[in-house]
Amino acid sequence: MAGFLDQLEPLKQAALAELAAAPDLAALEQARVGYLGSNGKFTALMKQLGALPKEEKPAAGKAVNTAKVELEAALARRRGELELKAALPQEPTDFTLPGRRRPLGKLHPLTQVTEDIVRSFRKIGFAVADGPEVEDDYHCFDALNTPADHPARDTQDTFYLQPPASSLQPPYLLRTHTSSVQIRVMAKQQPPVRIIVPGRVYRRDNADATHNPTFHQVEGLYVDRNVTVGDLKGTVEFVFKELMGEETRIRFRPHYFSYTEPSFEIDFSSALTRKMGKEWLEIAGCGMVHPQVLENVGYDPEVWTGWAFGFGIERIAMIRYGINDIRLFYENDLRFLRQF
Ligand code: DAH
Repeated sequence: MAGFLDQLEPLKQAALAELAAAPDLAALEQARVGYLGSNGKFTALMKQLGALPKEEKPAAGKAVNTAKVELEAALARRRGELELKAALPQEPTDFTLPGRRRPLGKLHPLTQVTEDIVRSFRKIGFAVADGPEVEDDYHCFDALNTPADHPARDTQDTFYLQPPASSLQPPYLLRTHTSSVQIRVMAKQQPPVRIIVPGRVYRRDNADATHNPTFHQVEGLYVDRNVTVGDLKGTVEFVFKELMGEETRIRFRPHYFSYTEPSFEIDFSSALTRKMGKEWLEIAGCGMVHPQVLENVGYDPEVWTGWAFGFGIERIAMIRYGINDIRLFYENDLRFLRQF
């Protein structure tokens, strides 16, 4: 037994030294196989245990096991150190290098134009109002004096939502214009009313360079005592000059809308329209709020008068930036969006 134990201690020391000195994981594995593998030196020593006299076996076995636990602990420790070393960056970090810039996002061109429009109207005392995109036909059509046989109510133009089979409610629809919010606001408050309503609208149109099934509008509504077409014209002129430049001119042409009387279409003329090869471009609809609409919301048309208008935000943005296809706004192509 003395011979056996004499071999054990130096072998263990040699193994510990080799494990601790292994410069990388491959060398460590090589050292492990050399001592603890099935043909390793330490394994070979353990095999000699069986040849010892019976009374020596317990003490020798205990000594071998203790040594083995020690070797395995040393192996695990060194493996941890080498794994950490392997995971660290190979090159030292240069803290004097310039930082990496995070690419900053920006507002969508339609959002920018909408904010400009809102800012102009705020200057003259208008507040922003909001309403649901899923509407009923009362707010979208009936209350706006749009008779049931009006072409705007044709299913060609309006997305209707399928009510549940069990429902007794009228069908809902996706609003075709922001004019529905006129009704919602007036039904809730007494005059004076001075609001604009930017928002998304929906129509059953096929997408092409100038149409998209969803687009954006701004509605305006002003109701007070003694409001005139002059107020309407002055307001529209102020806002379009702000949006399209000081030398912008506007003109009103008679038109028909069921919720205004008289009704007009607004054309404008500026350096931008001339760049597009036209002197006048049609830009908005407007008029004096129809007495029937005032009655529908419980306002006395003998006391109150008002005007309203509506126009498309995409159209403004396209003219302003010289964009020739409305679909570009919705494709989310960064090469397009980064330009604004
Ligand atoms: N609602 C109209 C449209 O969708 C725009 C419009 C015209 C709004 C005249 C108005 C208005 O408030 O008075 O084209």
